[in-house]
Amino acid sequence: MTEPRDPAEEKPIRVGVIGCGQFMSRQHIQTIARNPRLVLQHLAAREEEEVRRVGDRYRAKRCTTQWEDVVADPDVNVLVVGVVPRLHREIAVAAIEHGKPVYVEKPLAETTRECREIADLARRRGVPVAVGFNRRFAPATDLLHRAFRNAGAPVSVTYRITDDDRVRPPAQNWKRQCRLLIEVVHIFDLLAYLLAAEPVAIYAAESRFNDASVVIEYDNGSRATILSSSYGSLAQPKEHLTAVFDHSAVEMTDFVEFRAYGLPDCPALERFAGRPYDDCDNSHVDAFAERGLEALLAMRERYHRAMQEAGVLTDSSNPESWRRASLLLGNPPLPQINYAPDKGWGRALEVFCLAAAAGSTPPNASAMDGHRATVCAEAARRSIETGQPVTIDRSFDVT
Ligand SMILES: NC(=O)c1ccc[n+]([C@@H]2O[C@H](COP(=O)([O-])OP(=O)(O)OC[C@H]3O[C@@H](n4cnc5c(N)ncnc54)[C@H](O)[C@@H]3O)[C@@H](O)[C@H]2O)c1
Repeated sequence: MTEPRDPAEEKPIRVGVIGCGQFMSRQHIQTIARNPRLVLQHLAAREEEEVRRVGDRYRAKRCTTQWEDVVADPDVNVLVVGVVPRLHREIAVAAIEHGKPVYVEKPLAETTRECREIADLARRRGVPVAVGFNRRFAPATDLLHRAFRNAGAPVSVTYRITDDDRVRPPAQNWKRQCRLLIEVVHIFDLLAYLLAAEPVAIYAAESRFNDASVVIEYDNGSRATILSSSYGSLAQPKEHLTAVFDHSAVEMTDFVEFRAYGLPDCPALERFAGRPYDDCDNSHVDAFAERGLEALLAMRERYHRAMQEAGVLTDSSNPESWRRASLLLGNPPLPQINYAPDKGWGRALEVFCLAAAAGSTPPNASAMDGHRATVCAEAARRSIETGQPVTIDRSFDVT
């Protein structure tokens, strides 16, 4: 006999989305469109043409160029925000003041003071705030999490996260600012989550701007070294983790392949399917599940070659280069290469929306987690500038 369904559980969840740029239109808006419980109720972007184009494609009930309309819309149950980080604080505060659960893309805000303000306000008002640290929800992270839990402390970790910044079109120039804040916050969060520990000191040095090594000490004796660079190659996997436990170890490459060494409770090798995208060649989804890293490397090589031959890597401001690139990427095209693995974007948002609608505490990274990550970014920047290690106290004040 099947259990009778609680009708409240089946009620549609009406989502308001602020921002529909290159990330939001591929990730959160496609997640909402695919999930039968989620309705794209109200969509905002700065330009009328952009919000109409994305809104029509994904059947938004309402569209606006004023984000305040989405926050104030009484039909919106949950908000998702992903615009330029400069605006995150103002929108998050408005959402909390309207009592709306809000999922804010990373970074939560540009400064630790702003993050703290959001976290304090959310706690006082009892409004759930999540930060888009999606890697916590990647299938590969489930295995990492299990390995870290079983191993105990201390752990020594290295994490490489590299991009080729030459590939950014002019509209994405804001992403060339400090990588520690724009990108590495993901890793500051992931490491604190896996290690179940708080950072207590950071030392960082840069060979040139956005080419940094960061060493973090944790309160359980663990230590992590992050290599973060904008001078990487598209042909190389973007991310790689190695963790050394007590005569055992794990490695994870780009959320596509996981390996364990000397850990009887973990599979020695696991591969993970890629993430599919609308209007794209999605052959990578099964290829990653079947051939793992080998398939990722082949896809990256093809993507890199297309960008190089099209001239994007020599001049990403030339629309003609992008037109040539789209021809070389095929019809339908390969998806954006960094989005090919499943880094947990869909699951993170779905889990948040369902928990917020049910009135329970979402298991996502919280505003305080967002604050911690921004504290780490700020501490690393200060260490680079002073040449000295920077300590972080228990209240996340950098001293
Ligand atoms: N979690 C991840 O893996 C990941 C990856 C990439 C980007 N992101 C984050 O997602 C967010 C958006 O990134 P993107 O790549 O879509 O950026 P983008 O530059 O492509 O788009 C920015 C969007 O913000 C909108 N916008 C700007 N000012 C606005 C305003 N005043 N009112 C309403 N809308 C406004 C623009 O219209 C556009 O839709 C950023 O916070 C970024 O850090 C997260």
